[in-house]
This record gives sequence, structure tokens and C-alpha cells, in this order.
Amino acid sequence: MYMNKFQIILSLAVMSVLCSFILQPKPWDVPDEFKMMKNPVKKTDKVMVEGKMRYNQACAGCHGLKGKGDGEKVKNLANIKPAILLADNVSKGTDGEYFYKIKYGRGQNHSFSGKLDDEAIWSVIYYMKTFANK
Ligand code: HEC
Repeated sequence: MYMNKFQIILSLAVMSVLCSFILQPKPWDVPDEFKMMKNPVKKTDKVMVEGKMRYNQACAGCHGLKGKGDGEKVKNLANIKPAILLADNVSKGTDGEYFYKIKYGRGQNHSFSGKLDDEAIWSVIYYMKTFANK
């Protein structure tokens, strides 16, 4: 089939729109009952110390010590980059949303249920929200 310039440009445009749509990361659906959950753990100095310790042990390898997504394990991850956990990003989500994402993950990885108890997860969430933007 012969296409004129206009048809070629049009079909390229249609293809690039389709591609960018397919390559979009899928939304990470969090059930409503989690979204509305409040952090049940009281924010004390002890909890913050615990959160930092857990984060450095369990999360920093991928998300980086300061949440920049630059941990040493990143090079081993196939094609998905760890989320950047700097202030501008983590201020967008609710604590309950992060609780769900950390506890249950998605796909085979990134599920900390069984590895961290709920209290530890909530303390990590407090700590994760202390990162600055740079
Ligand atoms: C093996 C590497 C790895 C480890 C360890 C890891 N993560 Fe992640 N994390 C990822 C990747 C990759 C994503 C993006 C996943 C996706 O979008 O499907 C992610 C996503 C997230 C998100 C979602 C951010 C958003 O805005 O939706 C949060 C929150 C998070 N991680 C927190 C943590 C915490 C807290 C820990 C430690 C308890 C942790 N992660 C440990 C790799 C890791």
C-alpha cells in the first residue's frame, strides 16, 4: 500500500501515542480501607530510631540511605527502578497507602509481610517521611 507523507506522519504519531500508553507503569491499586488508615504507632524518639534502623537494614539497599533511589542493589534489578522516596514524592501518599505497598508489595517482590511486623513498618513510614528533597 502506498502512503503519502501525511499518512506516514499520521501513522507514526498514532504509534507513538500507543507505545507511550503501553509503557506507562500500571497504577498500584491500594484498597480504600488502607488509604484511610492512620499510623497507629505513636511517634516517639524510640520509634524514630527503630524506623531508621529498619530502613537502613531493609530498604536502603534499593531506595538509598537518603531515599534517592540509589542503593547498591539497584544494578541487580532487572528493569524496574526503586521509587524515589524524597519529601515531594512521599508527601503525596497517605501513611496507610505506604503501609499497604510496603506490607503487600506487588508482583513477587517488595512484600515485607512476615519480614517486618506491622509496628516496624509503621516506624519505617515515619522515618521515610523525614527525607529532604535533595
Ligand atoms: C529489592 C529492592 C527494594 C527493596 C529492598 C525495597 N524496595 Fe521499595 N520499591 C522498590 C521498587 C523496584 C519499587 C517500585 C515498584 C513498582 O512500582 O512496582 C518500590 C516502591 C516502593 C514504594 C512505593 C512508592 C510510591 O510512591 O508508590 C515505597 C513506599 C517503598 N518502595 C518503600 C520501601 C520500604 C519502606 C522498604 C523497606 C522496608 C523498601 N521499599 C524496600 C524496590 C525495593
